[in-house]
Amino acid sequence: MKRIAVVTSGGDAPGMNAAVRAITRVGIDAGLEVFGVRRGYAGLIENDMIGLNARDVGGILQLGGTVLGTARSEEFKTEEAQRKSIENLNKRGIEGLIIIGGNGSQMGAYSLFKLGFPVVGVASTVDNDLYGSDISIGVDTALNIIIESIDRIKTTAESHNRAFLIEVMGRRFGYLALMSGIAGGVEVIVAPEFEVDPATVAAELRSAYERGKRYALVVVTDGAKNNAETIARYFREHGQEIGYELRVTILGHVQRGGSPTAFDRLLATRLGTAAVELLKSGDSGKLVGFISGQIAFTPLEVVVANEKTLDMRMWHLSKILAK
Ligand code: F6P
Repeated sequence: MKRIAVVTSGGDAPGMNAAVRAITRVGIDAGLEVFGVRRGYAGLIENDMIGLNARDVGGILQLGGTVLGTARSEEFKTEEAQRKSIENLNKRGIEGLIIIGGNGSQMGAYSLFKLGFPVVGVASTVDNDLYGSDISIGVDTALNIIIESIDRIKTTAESHNRAFLIEVMGRRFGYLALMSGIAGGVEVIVAPEFEVDPATVAAELRSAYERGKRYALVVVTDGAKNNAETIARYFREHGQEIGYELRVTILGHVQRGGSPTAFDRLLATRLGTAAVELLKSGDSGKLVGFISGQIAFTPLEVVVANEKTLDMRMWHLSKILAK
């Protein structure tokens, strides 16, 4: 193998750049030429690639986002676009592709692999919903941003004796809500895995008020049926008496921005390095993740066929801790 390429795909995640840097420098050290694909799978279809040398990836370790750019490409779901992408890679003599991304991206990676192209995935998504890795690139940074926000909201909530609905990312997976809810010490956690209807949220808040809590917080996953807006609207329309005045904070894309934590930089560096080594050894069709504190390789076929689950004991614990 002489040439490889790297692509960052789907939602960006802090640490992607650290992975691109490691892949480039470890690849060059191993005697490979490394290319970067711009704008995710959209760039792969359009043959938008650049050669990367060691200096090109200088100064990006500490940057959030992805210097290569990313996209959510609908077109890449078609076999025509996938074949076109392989043709583009072949024309440049690129023999292996590293795909840094989450569920949708690894689904695309598996499609390319099934068409005969050597690919290796690197687990990256703030949602932490990717099977094959206990923790993905970006999760630790997002969690720390959420915790900092919760801590900040607590001070103003306490001053005004208010309740806050705080919406966090996660889409269909409640990991960020659950972990930030526990680490941030909130009263109620709402996620797709444990939907709490608005009337029950109201009752929980009322109970916290009657137990003498000066303020109360609810963390809600953006992809839950009952998201922050739905719950707030229900309270307004039904005149729910919760004791506190209510405010809503949607953290949104702030959670994916900014500098990656030390953990994310190290995780991205280790996963990126292992991805180059795997490709170089002639192996492919696998996701590089982190399981039980170790680098782990899981076939993409297994990754795309399975869904990650939450440890429900943590949710029960969160209820006890909120007393
Ligand atoms: O999948 C990552 C994620 O940040 C989700 O948590 C969130 O629901 C979604 O992406 C937001 O998508 P977009 O960045 O396309 O607005």
